[in-house]
Amino acid sequence: MTQDRIKSFQNQLLNWYDKSARTLPWRDFPTPYRVWISEIMLQQTRVDTVKPYFEKFIQEVPDIETLANISEDHLLKLWQGLGYYNRGLNLKKAAQLVLEKFNGEIPKNIDDLKKLPGIGDYSAGAIASIAFGERATAVDGNVLRVMARITSNTRDVLEPKVKKFFKDEVFELLPAKRVGDFNQALMELGATICIPNGKPHCKACPMANLCEAYQTGIEQNIPVKTPKNKRRVEKKTVFLMECNDFIGIRRRKGEGLLPNLWEFPNEEDHLTIEECEKYLKKWDMSIQKIQPLPKSKHIFTHIEWDMIGYHVFFNSIDDKLEITWSTKNDIKEKFSIPSAFKTYLKLISEKKYNQ
Ligand code: ADE
Repeated sequence: MTQDRIKSFQNQLLNWYDKSARTLPWRDFPTPYRVWISEIMLQQTRVDTVKPYFEKFIQEVPDIETLANISEDHLLKLWQGLGYYNRGLNLKKAAQLVLEKFNGEIPKNIDDLKKLPGIGDYSAGAIASIAFGERATAVDGNVLRVMARITSNTRDVLEPKVKKFFKDEVFELLPAKRVGDFNQALMELGATICIPNGKPHCKACPMANLCEAYQTGIEQNIPVKTPKNKRRVEKKTVFLMECNDFIGIRRRKGEGLLPNLWEFPNEEDHLTIEECEKYLKKWDMSIQKIQPLPKSKHIFTHIEWDMIGYHVFFNSIDDKLEITWSTKNDIKEKFSIPSAFKTYLKLISEKKYNQ
């Protein structure tokens, strides 16, 4: 881009941001700690979902020392429903490292930031620029889409070398001042105007006069993304096990998907009621009745769970099993059960399943 065009790009984008930026809790008071927490939560999660989690988290875990000392269960509970739980666990590890290696101060340069668990290229750039005003880019999916459209670029934005290309392009565009605002303005434009999946709001776009895709009417064909391999579908049968108002849950293994979180006991495949009876016999507890529950589906990055469920009422509990028997209230308040089970979790508070 010519210098004149770069200047227009910066001015138009920042002027629009000053007028139109959403008020977001981490923007009011962008300390390094708040920016860091918000950027980790915003990885793979939408702004509207993050807002209440961020506010609760900051209230309960206001600083790095508290975070370094938080119990894993408390941390997972605060993260319940956000998904990608490793992000939460990495925050604690990173806080411990900041105390040990960086004197309790979140580092400001990209290389040091990337030494902290959970902080990659994108987050390091976002934190360095937003919290410290460092000259760094923060190129996420929103920014890639905006850049691909403005420059009418039809290369596959999912390819690492294309991402790197756009990162270099954005670096050339960074203004001398307000780098953090500039990065956030690009993301904001992508989230609110230059939206994915459908028609972008080009009539309201402050960059329309500079946007080559808009000028040639191909904005809806960009960005180009070559479809990736399909997800593996896993069939599961989930058991909502109940005895005298206690619900059976268990902890997941420490590795693999959703490590260490709590879950309703479940088994591979879709079992019939007869197969369930046979399967549940291994636990030697007498069954009072079994009722089918609604189906459910949960999509992870590479796997999809296709679930059916049964509500199983028992006459007695066997305490020797791997099952933890918990009150319904404790399940709501204390145990972190991931959203993958939300269809069954919701049922616990519903009257018709509590006769
Ligand atoms: N997505 C990730 N970080 C963001 C930020 N600071 N503002 C808006 N959207 C974001």
